[in-house]
Amino acid sequence: MTEPSTADSSKQPPRVLLLYYSYTGQSQKVLEAAGEVFRQRGCEVTAAPIEFTDPRYAERFSRFPMRSVWPDFLGMLPAQTLQRTGDIRTPDAVRVGDYDLICIGSPTWWRTVSMPLRSFLKSHEARNLLDGKRFAVFVVCRKYWRENLAGVRKLAEKKGGRYVDGIHFTYPGGQLPSMLSLTSYLGSGEYKDRYLGVRLPPTNISDEQVEESRRFAARIADKVFGKRTA
Ligand SMILES: Cc1cc2nc3c(=O)[nH]c(=O)nc-3n(C[C@H](O)[C@H](O)[C@H](O)COP(=O)(O)O)c2cc1C
Repeated sequence: MTEPSTADSSKQPPRVLLLYYSYTGQSQKVLEAAGEVFRQRGCEVTAAPIEFTDPRYAERFSRFPMRSVWPDFLGMLPAQTLQRTGDIRTPDAVRVGDYDLICIGSPTWWRTVSMPLRSFLKSHEARNLLDGKRFAVFVVCRKYWRENLAGVRKLAEKKGGRYVDGIHFTYPGGQLPSMLSLTSYLGSGEYKDRYLGVRLPPTNISDEQVEESRRFAARIADKVFGKRTA
């Protein structure tokens, strides 16, 4: 038997928005995996990547790998610590659609919500999108997920969103090796075994984490749209 569901097969399919900022594509990857699951459940899934256009900061994120990884990376620390916002551009999907579920992909920048995503969540557009709507949060980072997840939840709830659930994905290794692995990747675009004499653990989203994202999406779909009968 099917549990009570907001998805009525005689009506339009449920609509899911994948909203994210993603510099190296990791947040995009876990959201796309989740999106496949929602599609298999009969949902209409739309992606809404946020573009970071702020003249003070966007240039360094306009190319990959970073040109000068340490200054580019460390240069975001003051603005992130002060939780500043900046200029962004959003796709029309954010303004025109009416969604049953909004999945928010959030990479951590200096322990908190990245400037592009924070800028969106503090905008008027965010209220139009989120007011009265359910949302789930997907945090992607090297280690520091907690503050980011709490921050996204708080900002989205302030715009009227209704939190359903959250998941976080972190990268393996100790503090220094994982940091060197990430910065080596950001600065070269390649996965290396060693950097500055240190043996590097893998960085970025693994295949297992992609699967984890799929399982999470299935749980969310059960919660929001009702359990699948099969
Ligand atoms: C400017 C910057 C700052 C970052 N700061 C942190 C941090 O404080 N803690 C952390 O765990 N990861 C941090 N990271 C790592 C990112 O969360 C990680 O690279 C993630 O994969 C980015 O996802 P994306 O590819 O979707 O942008 C930082 C990355 C960047 C580019």
